[in-house]
Amino acid sequence: MGTLHVLDHPLIQHKLTHIRDKNTGTKDFRELVNEIAMLMAFEITRNLPVAETTIETPVKTAKAKVLAGKKIGLIPILRAGLGMVDGMVRLIPAAKVGHVGLYRDPKTLEPVEYYIKLPSDISERELIVIDPMLATGGSAADAIHSLKKRGAKQIRLMCIVGAPEGVKKIQEEHPDVDIYLAALDEGLNEEAYIVPGLGDAGDRLFGTK
Ligand code: PRP
Ligand code: URA
Repeated sequence: MGTLHVLDHPLIQHKLTHIRDKNTGTKDFRELVNEIAMLMAFEITRNLPVAETTIETPVKTAKAKVLAGKKIGLIPILRAGLGMVDGMVRLIPAAKVGHVGLYRDPKTLEPVEYYIKLPSDISERELIVIDPMLATGGSAADAIHSLKKRGAKQIRLMCIVGAPEGVKKIQEEHPDVDIYLAALDEGLNEEAYIVPGLGDAGDRLFGTK
């Protein structure tokens, strides 16, 4: 079963409090989501492999470390996942970005895929699927199925707020995928919104409501 990691760094928790607040407007919400994504990226890249190289400092020859593992691919789930991309590429500038477009049908709550465009070498990359919200888990589970169908082998899922229902679905359908959250909330309401959550992440990011 994939492991659930809750990244409870104080800076992440402080910023999360602000995006949960219904009085936080679009500009601040957008900035904070990117900042949280950057801090989470810092935490989840902690164990990336490094190799030793030799460089010349102005003072002497020195051994130094460089990143050595597989290249990274970021896969935002449209729309709301887009709000996390800038923050993450600031830390991982060599990452390629693939997009999976899904929306949750408001009646059936089932995800509907409408777009997919991926780097050609996804099977050789370590992929991080990103979306601020993991509610029923339907969207993330479907996005991961799509990636696997196209050859992806190594996938992690990074969301800001998750519900236990979504975590359970991913762990059941994708036991090879580790999940990273900034917070694990109580559950879902009757419209499958996360409680207490932060509302509709896409609408708050893009000001569409
Ligand atoms: C939201 C969110 C996730 C999904 C989570 O997207 O960004 O993708 O819902 O819900 P689930 O875990 O129950 O599938 P939404 O469908 O609202 O689309 P949007 O990003 O275009 O607003
Ligand atoms: N999608 C959101 O944007 N928010 C939720 O709480 C659940 C799904």
